[in-house]
Formats: sequence, C-alpha cells, structure tokens
Amino acid sequence: MSMSAVDVITTKRDGGRLSDAQIDWALAAYTAGDVADEQMAALAMAILLNGMDAAEIARWTQAMIDSGDTLSFGDIGRPLVDKHSTGGVGDKVTLPLAPLVAACGAAVPQLSGRGLGHTGGTLDKLESIPGWRASLTLEEIAAQLADVGAVICATTPTLAPADRKLYALRDVTGTVESIPLIASSIMSKKIAEGTSGLVLDVKVGSGAFMKTPQRARELAETMVRLGCDHGLATAALLTDMSVPLGRAVGNALEVAESVEVLRGGGPADVVELTVALAREMLALGGITGVDPAEVLASGAAYPVWEAMIAAQGGDPSAPLPVAAHVETVTADRSGTFAADALAVGVAAWRLGAGRARKEDAVQAGAGVLLLTDPGAPVEAGQPLLELHTDTPGAVAGARAALDTGVRVLGEPAGRPPLLLGAVQR
Ligand code: URA
Repeated sequence: MSMSAVDVITTKRDGGRLSDAQIDWALAAYTAGDVADEQMAALAMAILLNGMDAAEIARWTQAMIDSGDTLSFGDIGRPLVDKHSTGGVGDKVTLPLAPLVAACGAAVPQLSGRGLGHTGGTLDKLESIPGWRASLTLEEIAAQLADVGAVICATTPTLAPADRKLYALRDVTGTVESIPLIASSIMSKKIAEGTSGLVLDVKVGSGAFMKTPQRARELAETMVRLGCDHGLATAALLTDMSVPLGRAVGNALEVAESVEVLRGGGPADVVELTVALAREMLALGGITGVDPAEVLASGAAYPVWEAMIAAQGGDPSAPLPVAAHVETVTADRSGTFAADALAVGVAAWRLGAGRARKEDAVQAGAGVLLLTDPGAPVEAGQPLLELHTDTPGAVAGARAALDTGVRVLGEPAGRPPLLLGAVQR
C-alpha cells in the first residue's frame, strides 16, 4: 500500500486513529530519512493535541523498537533488572542504586543519556570522575554485568534509533510533554535493552515533566501496561519532585553525595528513595530474604561502586573536580526554608551544570549545594545555599532563578512526602 506523510498527519490532525500500517510506515520512513523533520514535527504535534489510544501507543512503541537492534546479554547467572527515572533536580539515585541492587544479588544494565535542560544526566555526573568512560561495547557491558553486576553507560546508537531522532526533534518543537510520546520513547529503549524487570520512578511536581499526580499516574499506568504487554515485568513508583532530591544539584556535587549514601550516610530522602526502588527491583528479580536498607546502611554496596567505576577506567578514590568560584546565599529573615525544585534546577543549570544544546559541554564542579533541608527552620543571616561555578558571570542569572522559588517563609511548611503512590500490573 502506498502511504503519504500528509495522509498520516491529517488523520491524526482530524482526531482519527492511526492504523498499524500507518504507524509502521511513518516511523520506518522517518528513520530512513524519507519523512522529513517538519512532517514528523507536525505529526508529533497532532499526537500531542489529539492523543493515541492504547493500541496505537503499543504499535508506535513496537515500531520504535523495530527501528533498531534488540540487545540480549544471555544468561549471566543473575536476574537482570533496571530502573528508569523520568528525571528530576538532584536525582542522582541511579548512582547508589545500581551498586546496591548488584550487592543484593541482581544485575543492573543501566543504559543512560545525557542531561538536557534543567534536569541532569547520569552520564554527565559520572564523567566528573577522573578517567571514567561512558561508551562501552556490548561485549564490555556483558562482561561487566557478569563480573561486577552493575553497569551505567551510554546507550548504543543502534537501540531504538527512531526515538533518538524523534526525541531530538520533540525537544525543539514543543512536543515533549505528550504522554503517548514519552511512554513510547522510554519504553521502546527499555524493552530493546533486553532486561527482564524494570522499575519506573515517575516524578511529580515543579521540577518534573509531569506537574500533577493525575498526569504522573496516567504516564505510569501507560508505561507499566506497555512493559507488561511486551513481557517485561514492570512496576512504577510516583515520587515527589517539588523540592530537590538531597542537598546536592550538579555533576561532581551529586557524585560526592552518592558516595556518602553508599558509605551508609547521606540525606534521608536520597536513602529512602534508593531503598524503595531497590525493594521493587529485587521483587521483580525474584530476590527475597535480603533487606536493601541494611545492605546500604552497612556500606556493603560501596565496594561494588568502586569496582563499577574502576571497570570503566575511573578512579573512585581520585578527588572530584571543584568549581573555581563559590558564593553563599544567606537567609534575609528568620522562618522556614523553602526550595522549589525547578528554581534550584534552573539555577544549577545556569551556573554551568547543565547544557542548553546537545553539543554544549557541562562544568563538572558547577551546581547548587543546599546547606539545610527544605522545610527546616532558619535564622536571619544563616547560610542557606552555596552556588558553585567556574564562570562567576553566571551567578547573577542563577540568583534570578532562585528568586522565583527559594525563599524564607513566615509560616512553618514541612517537606512533602517523597513516596506518592505505586502502579503495578
Ligand atoms: N525521557 C525519554 O527518554 N523520552 C521522553 O520522551 C521523555 C523523557
């Protein structure tokens, strides 16, 4: 059957359903370069505005998987479980989580991306460790999974290439925030990765894609259904992202905080989320009788971290890069410290921790360090935050971002609960 991009676009523009053949053709032709970027942008906008039903989303996801390779690590003697977060400010949980889950007996193949906008990327964080290398061959990934049990590395170019192209296009055409497009984007990569269990951390709040619990739940349910229908055991937690996670936001600052957690310390919220996700991953992997809270508190995951970093050329004991310039922000009055996730995320990004375009470099040492917990009482003059950067000219922009959401309130206000719900099949 001959197809035309304009017919596919107008079907969705007018509120119709895309047929399986239309979906398969559109994604294959776009990957091959036969559908132009402006046509796919129009289709993505029509999908954002008019949605897709469950069968369309499933077919779209399958077509994205079929655009590239599907990985298989064979039998490595442990259950393979992975986690994906929809992204948030200070969300460094992958760093302690992968070694923790490996220390508890599963294997974690975490193929990650770089950060864009105000949420940081896991690879950017790890690249602040001297010598650490993000790109591994499939053979290296498989060997490290068998030896160490945990790998965090760059995704391969052959995994869901349709998504790679489409995500970059959505990023510049205002079409990221569509539940069908986000769900199919994330799940196509995770299904193609060949893991047998997947836990999703769906963030809710100012610092997340999903600003309301209703939207977050819909996204979580869509992804859990997609995973389970493809034979990938999938569960999701809904977690708060209205305040930053932990106290460190920025690449090397977040690595340092993750190491504290791996040594049995660190901020309570980072520990709580790491343990909650580990429990879900171990349950999906069928591992019982081991308590990840105890393993983390004992420091037993730290040697796995050292092995994981060293296997990728990194020196886990090398000093981390520090920013050339540090400025402290103090409380202008007494009251309760309030720190909005988006405001802190944008400030860290402007200080140099994030990038505006894919090709930009990030500063390893840049970011924001909270000196007290959101919701805590503070006295006038008390230091609240440190701003870290190699480019002092960036501080004014960071302070302007903080003015939108970091303040001392007159009335008491606690930190919102971290765990907001769960979605299981
Ligand atoms: N992360 C992804 O991988 N895809 C999206 O669409 C959004 C977040």
